[in-house]
Amino acid sequence: MRILQVASEAVPLCKTGGLADVVTALSQALLDGGDDVRVLLPAYRGLLERVEIERRFELGDPLGLGVPARIACATLPGTRVHAWLLQCDPLFDRAGGPYVDEQGRDWLDNHLRFALLARAAATLALASAPMGWAVDVVHAHDWQSALVAGYLAWWGRGRAATVLTVHNLQFAGRFAPQLLGAIAAPPSSYAPAGLEFYGQISLLKAGLVWADRVTTVSPTYADEIRTPEGGIGFDGLLRHRGAAVQGILNGIDDRAWDPATDAALAQGYDATRLGDKRVCRLALQRELGLHEQDDAPVLGLVGRLTWQKGIDLMLGGIDVALAQGAQLAILGSGEPELEAALAARVAANPGRVALRRGYDEALSHRIFAGADLFLVPSRFEPCGLTQLYAMRYGTPPVVRRTGGLADTVRDEDEHPGAGTGFVFDAPEPGAFAAALQRAITTWRDRPHHEAVQRRGMAGQFGWARGAAAYRRVYEEAIAAARAESV
Ligand code: ADP
Ligand code: GLC
Repeated sequence: MRILQVASEAVPLCKTGGLADVVTALSQALLDGGDDVRVLLPAYRGLLERVEIERRFELGDPLGLGVPARIACATLPGTRVHAWLLQCDPLFDRAGGPYVDEQGRDWLDNHLRFALLARAAATLALASAPMGWAVDVVHAHDWQSALVAGYLAWWGRGRAATVLTVHNLQFAGRFAPQLLGAIAAPPSSYAPAGLEFYGQISLLKAGLVWADRVTTVSPTYADEIRTPEGGIGFDGLLRHRGAAVQGILNGIDDRAWDPATDAALAQGYDATRLGDKRVCRLALQRELGLHEQDDAPVLGLVGRLTWQKGIDLMLGGIDVALAQGAQLAILGSGEPELEAALAARVAANPGRVALRRGYDEALSHRIFAGADLFLVPSRFEPCGLTQLYAMRYGTPPVVRRTGGLADTVRDEDEHPGAGTGFVFDAPEPGAFAAALQRAITTWRDRPHHEAVQRRGMAGQFGWARGAAAYRRVYEEAIAAARAESV
């Protein structure tokens, strides 16, 4: 099968969150299974210098912007996955992030930047196959590429099949309705059964409405987004799409994330050498300026510091553990108020709370390895990857029972002798604190903690199952697209 993945991030070239890990690892797994895969990604600043360009292909001016676009063909470094890098310098060659400028403000022309990404994908997927590679299915990810399903549907018959994966429904790609013309959407698409969303347009909706199949990244999140509470305005549409909407649990790249071979760690280890993990713990304490103490657990947290991630819940419930000597190692960046609240905790707990702001891939590995327990107190979590990395690194997670966290972590007290972590329900500091206490009590009983560690490390979190599930969805999408054109 020829699959064109379209995304705004893919490791190792560009990453702000789990999307980037998923796009590359899924593509590699599909490739390993015999499929032919390309990943279409914007050529943000500096990205072309990090790859070897095999050839270039002129795309013309797909969106009528008055500037040409082209594709640079390369391979995603460290993988065998072919990348098609969409070059349009006025839109993508800028200092700043993929979505925001250096001050953290959304780029004002994000509608154009990502409409171009989707339009390029649609152009590449046309039957005439300008790259000489006839696409069977276009797999779009999140709002940044969802519009490809709209373009192909509006162009009509004989089109490639389309699949949209929703990684986070909260990011709907909302813009003023006046921009409809600029993104080359027909006026008729501004309708409740189209792009219209509470008086604005939502680019995500193009995929929710027109993609042949819609997936999201865990079965529980797939259920949650069909309820008024979790659906945040899209639940009616998602229910209406019926069986076309499915949840497929994310996997992880278990070669890149392997504590036995991880080059970022002071010491490799596996489930038979858990003692060696203590070397990583000590190295982490040293690196972060935490007291080199043995008799209290190190709690790790890596992620976006936002309301979604429940950072405030954690802060509200952490004090009892800190008073008992627990240490907290945090890596992340996000909302200024949360960063400030965390910084205040650091100041109040020297040697016991450490915060590293910003993005640091290698340090994240050292926290997964060096911590004793890992915190994921998310209010909602479509899938979540950090709890999977933590379990793989023998660091039992404390998570809220929501979305993919509910699907991947088994509570040790609810399933004695079968748990992989600790789970709480209410999005409240007290509920988090109670689960954390249970985790710490287990940690103090070393053989018990090790049993939980080993079960997490034995989990099968690779992509094989997920890739097979996506392959079935692609087949369904191809059949649906074919049925439409007869
Ligand atoms: P989300 O995509 O909602 O942010 P996920 O758990 O799916 O959450 O994925 C987050 C990914 O980004 C994980 O691979 C995590 O390790 C990584 N990550 C998040 N923040 C940082 C950071 N500050 N430094 C390094 N890696 C980070
Ligand atoms: C989103 C979600 C996260 C998920 C990731 C990859 O960023 O917030 O839960 O793991 O996408 O699918």
